[in-house]
Amino acid sequence: MKLKIAVLGGDGIGPEITAQAVQVLKAIAKKFKHEFEFTNALVGAAAIKIKGDPLPQDTLDICNDANAVLFGAIGDPEFDQNPDAKIRPEQGLLKLRKSLGLFANIRPLITFESLIHKSPIKEKIIRNTDFIIFRELTGGIYFGEKRTSDDGKSASDNCVYNDFEVDRIAHLAFKAAKSRRKKLTLVDKANVLETSRLWRRRVQDIAQQYPEVDLNFLYVDNAAMQMIVNPRQFDVILTENMFGDILSDEASVISGSIGLQASASMGDTSVLFEPIHGSFPDAKGKNTANPLAAILSAAMLLEHFELYKEADAIKTAVDKSIEFNITTPDINATKNFARTSDVGDFIADYIIDKKNILYHIENINLGQSTII
Ligand code: IPM
Ligand code: MG
Repeated sequence: MKLKIAVLGGDGIGPEITAQAVQVLKAIAKKFKHEFEFTNALVGAAAIKIKGDPLPQDTLDICNDANAVLFGAIGDPEFDQNPDAKIRPEQGLLKLRKSLGLFANIRPLITFESLIHKSPIKEKIIRNTDFIIFRELTGGIYFGEKRTSDDGKSASDNCVYNDFEVDRIAHLAFKAAKSRRKKLTLVDKANVLETSRLWRRRVQDIAQQYPEVDLNFLYVDNAAMQMIVNPRQFDVILTENMFGDILSDEASVISGSIGLQASASMGDTSVLFEPIHGSFPDAKGKNTANPLAAILSAAMLLEHFELYKEADAIKTAVDKSIEFNITTPDINATKNFARTSDVGDFIADYIIDKKNILYHIENINLGQSTII
């Protein structure tokens, strides 16, 4: 298969983790005889510094021309510490989501048996947790009118939803639930917010088209608690933009590290794949950030194009890297932790020639090789 992939590394650790995802996709292309063409483009603080714009037009053109976008991370402390900054890196990501019409952000919660003990939550509570968050991505409070009064003493962010914005993601979430354990939980704050009541009405209506799916409702405050107390109860969670942002960071605690969580963003014509984590500026350039969320986002990209064997090859190699402790400091507290690029190298090598790499691993364990 021929695929054009736009690569937007962004800020902080974004470029270094995305480089590993690209390395892994190149290994897949080689092994399975595909042609993937990668085009890099600027976004976020990096783009502001060079072009004065967090989403320059040529970046948008490259994304529109591509079959898929691979995105790193966005955010820079220089802007975080200045609440008066008029141009912010995050505007680049939000405008990109809006311009590409990426209305559904799909965040599967992945747990790894060998990492279960790393989670701050008890093993017996989280073992076999398996749910997906469908987060609405181009509406709600993120995109409503924003205001600060002239005297700077008051500010407002408007939260607006239209029925069609709820309907299109609700259909995707119901279809996902239908193919899984047939349970859909709508998370909202319908006891307080009008927008949440609109979500409830629409979702209840749409549920009639999916009689095999069991629909239930949770207020977001309760959902935040339930996710830690009994995460196995969830199958598919459907929610609006900001609740989904918050709940997906919380959910990542179950897996042991936010550095493991990938996501796919879907629209009618575009797709984008990105880790759920941020730009982790403290680790920038240190080659210590976990590239697995970026690499697993690349696996989601392949699944989107129905390249299931290829996606499985990545996931198996990721499992092996964890099994052999070729892992970054967030999940490896020993002084033998691996660097970002070591993890990417291992996964790429494993995909290309697993026998050879297993042979070297055995030798390393016997203290006979210095290859890795
Ligand atoms: C995410 C991030 C973004 C968001 C930020 C960087 C704007 O937290 O993708 O979850 O809030 O959507
Ligand atoms: Mg977030």
